[in-house]
Amino acid sequence: MACGTGEYRAVLYFCSGTDGYLGGGEAMKVRGTTALVTGASRGIGAATAKRLAAQGAHVLLLARDRERLSAVAAEIRAEGGTADIYPVDLADPKAAAAVVQSVLERSGAPDILVNNAGAGRWLSVMETDANELAQTMALPYFAAFNLTRELLPAMKRRGSGHIVNVTSVASRLTWPGATAYTAARCAVEALTNGLRLELGGSGIGVTLAMFGTVENDYWANNPGSRERVPGVAVVLPVLMPEEVGAAIVSGIEHDRRLVLRPSIYHAILIMSTLFPALVEWMMRRTGWHEGRAVRPA
Ligand SMILES: NC(=O)c1ccc[n+]([C@@H]2O[C@H](COP(=O)([O-])OP(=O)(O)OC[C@H]3O[C@@H](n4cnc5c(N)ncnc54)[C@H](OP(=O)(O)O)[C@@H]3O)[C@@H](O)[C@H]2O)c1
Repeated sequence: MACGTGEYRAVLYFCSGTDGYLGGGEAMKVRGTTALVTGASRGIGAATAKRLAAQGAHVLLLARDRERLSAVAAEIRAEGGTADIYPVDLADPKAAAAVVQSVLERSGAPDILVNNAGAGRWLSVMETDANELAQTMALPYFAAFNLTRELLPAMKRRGSGHIVNVTSVASRLTWPGATAYTAARCAVEALTNGLRLELGGSGIGVTLAMFGTVENDYWANNPGSRERVPGVAVVLPVLMPEEVGAAIVSGIEHDRRLVLRPSIYHAILIMSTLFPALVEWMMRRTGWHEGRAVRPA
């Protein structure tokens, strides 16, 4: 087998567990599908929804802010796409169940579900009270879990489809001063892996979409977080929401197990697996710790 062929890469990625194929479903065309995207009022979710719509999906946009959802839907329609909005607070499991009923009545089961809605300030254990902790787990983890469970019966009846859970490289790399945030992103990864196993043979593929720093409103919405990005990360490329949206859609089309950007993180994650103490040392050396002045934003 020639080096560089799809099969060779598939075996390599499968063995390394760092990337690749085998999302558990089948390669799918986006055109003609219905795609539900959470956190679609801005940032990664809005960019993903626009990309899906541009490629011919009917998109269902979920988030709390009705005005922003309407603006995203208007942009999609102006480009010739179709979109419906569903304002909802996904931190409330009852509201999540109710919105699923509305979606099923209006549009039927979505073919594609992108669990992207998320928030979470970067705080140390001692800075995180029980209320803050509950909020950090509510979005993205509980929201993705609850919404997926509510939608799964209808998706399984169809016997095809794709679920994407969006997370941060924090689910594999830990840095100081953001412990509840990283734990919530680990939970999203565990949910994704469990789902893929439970859905084996169902025809529904499952992708974990994992990203480094994306330049968007996240940092303004979660004040104090940017200053805690470890110094070692400043040399890494920063992503724009549009390239993240494109990567997510490509992951759906190719039934990827993992979408990871920027690509240099493949090497970093291998390094962190092989030399965990070295990577932890770099995070500690260049990251937040109690009493150290934060780097300017
Ligand atoms: N930005 C980054 O550097 C980065 C990197 C890797 C991973 N991520 C992850 O990507 C996901 C999306 O982040 P983003 O960067 O696009 O952030 P963002 O610009 O702050 O967008 C967050 C989205 O989630 C929605 N949301 C928040 N709370 C919600 C709630 N209770 N109910 C419903 N929707 C809610 C927001 O809409 P409303 O306010 O209208 O509700 C918004 O649409 C997050 O899980 C984040 O951790 C971000």
